[in-house]
Amino acid sequence: MSNIGSYEKRVKNFNWSISEKELGYKEGDDLNIGWYCSDRICQMGKANKPALIWEGLGGKKNSYTFNDVRLATNTISLFLKKIGVKNEDRVCLFLDKIPELYLGFIGILKIGAIAQPLFSAFGDESLHVRLENAETTVIITQRKHVAKVRKIKDKIPNLKHVIIVDHDGKKPLREGEMIFSLKEETPVEELEIFPTKAESPSVLHYTSGTTGQPKGVKHVHYSLIGQYLTAKWVLDLKDNDIYWCTADPGWVTGTSYGIIGPWSLGVTQCVLDTGFSAEAWYKFIEKQKVTVWYSAPTAIRSLMKAGDEVIKKHDLSSLRHLASVGEPLNSEAVIWSKKVFGKHFLDTYWQTETGAIMLTNFPGMKVKPGSMGKPFPGITAEVLDPKSFEPVEEPGKIGLIAFKPGWPSMMRTYWNNEDTYKAKFANDWYLSGDRASIDKEGYYWFVGRDDDVINTGGHLVSPFEVESALLEHEAVAESAVVAKPDEVNMEVVKAFVVIKPGFEPSEELELKIMNFIRKKLSPLAMPQETEYVDSLPKTRSGKIMRRLLHAKEWGEEIGDTSTLEDEE
Ligand code: WT7
Repeated sequence: MSNIGSYEKRVKNFNWSISEKELGYKEGDDLNIGWYCSDRICQMGKANKPALIWEGLGGKKNSYTFNDVRLATNTISLFLKKIGVKNEDRVCLFLDKIPELYLGFIGILKIGAIAQPLFSAFGDESLHVRLENAETTVIITQRKHVAKVRKIKDKIPNLKHVIIVDHDGKKPLREGEMIFSLKEETPVEELEIFPTKAESPSVLHYTSGTTGQPKGVKHVHYSLIGQYLTAKWVLDLKDNDIYWCTADPGWVTGTSYGIIGPWSLGVTQCVLDTGFSAEAWYKFIEKQKVTVWYSAPTAIRSLMKAGDEVIKKHDLSSLRHLASVGEPLNSEAVIWSKKVFGKHFLDTYWQTETGAIMLTNFPGMKVKPGSMGKPFPGITAEVLDPKSFEPVEEPGKIGLIAFKPGWPSMMRTYWNNEDTYKAKFANDWYLSGDRASIDKEGYYWFVGRDDDVINTGGHLVSPFEVESALLEHEAVAESAVVAKPDEVNMEVVKAFVVIKPGFEPSEELELKIMNFIRKKLSPLAMPQETEYVDSLPKTRSGKIMRRLLHAKEWGEEIGDTSTLEDEE
């Protein structure tokens, strides 16, 4: 029997107090996600249960019980407190998927500070804009990433401390840098947990939009109410599960469901911090006896490509439940997974802004391959007419995916950017920025984004950010960045570039430009193709018509360009 039981019954009788009651929370109580994910689980008699089973590069291994997590996070908290970190200070985690990332996240929350996780493959410019916007005071990182921090540190006056978790003490440290090693510290038994309340800020995740710099999505401790229950009902997590979320906590899936969801339920999770290979992934599932697996379409498509032979070499019979998020999950992948794993990958839809799963397929529900399923109980969802912002009445008609505000894990604002936050609402609806249709049976079907943001392998890349970075390259006079189709990643970054006089359009220059963006922003933002053009199509007011370039890449009808020219 699945945790959710009957979807219809749950929808009918739903109240978020179900989650509050299970967590023993009452309005007005202190609420600290860090405490819920460690101390409370120990108090419930699971102190010796494994919380984290970790495998890294070169066969490195480590495992932590819930009591180990409690102690290690206390230790990190106290260290941060001693160097002067106060509640609501932003502490950035700039780490690979090493145990310190998971433990640091909880440690930061326990003292009421705000955790700001950033993808460790980010280059110095991506790091810079996000630390600057958040006015981050402390960054926790590894030796291998310190060079990027050093490059920008002087530009961020607020950044006081750079904590390195794996420094051997041999190479000299620079001003503001310090070493913290969990192994060297005496575990802290007792810690005064900061009395955060429901609305106290907890996590700051940066997400990319079409225009402007990335936006800091501010979440609060009350998000737990949503993350706990969705992890229980959608991921169907049970006490004896071994759960594997393949997402990196630099992105929201990796925190909402790679830390908070499973640990608040006292569920054992495992982490693989090596690069992707089908063989390594199947081996990991077999070895750890993974039962619940939450992954992403690009990974699933890569596994499909690797073929079925490699699957036969592994015993994957432990798998009980599979789910996916981040980008459209094509029906072929859903059908394939049933064939090879005996289970469908169930598609789930949500965003950094929503904090938790919003539309989803549930265990036990009829699967329609290619559909995102139905709203989570308690979520009021609709597809709105893009002009009137009223729900479209006809089944199958395309509109904007929108949600009625008020679910627990919804963002509370964009950091230092209240205007952009306000612009996300119309007629009392939160606008997701995605388009979909709803069929007669209430299933949602994804159509596409309503903006120019590129979703490459489940990661959002802002064309504006890439264009701005391109302009900093000595050879680039003008640029426009759009998505181009890709078999595995669905979309990849393509750049149209007008080069400056004195530079030759060559393959060598293309490689140089690619490398420049990879280092500055990230491998995700790196153009997979650069097309040299003499000029870019522009509106009368001089705005680049990305949509025209996009349509060409996707072989779509360009339509009436005169309207495009008038668009602002
Ligand atoms: C955007 C949000 C929180 C999940 C990780 C990504 C796209 C997400 C699906 C899905 C089609 C999806 C949307 C959404 N997206 N899930 N099941 N089917 N598209 O979080 O980085 O904030 O991205 O990812 O476009 O708006 P994110």
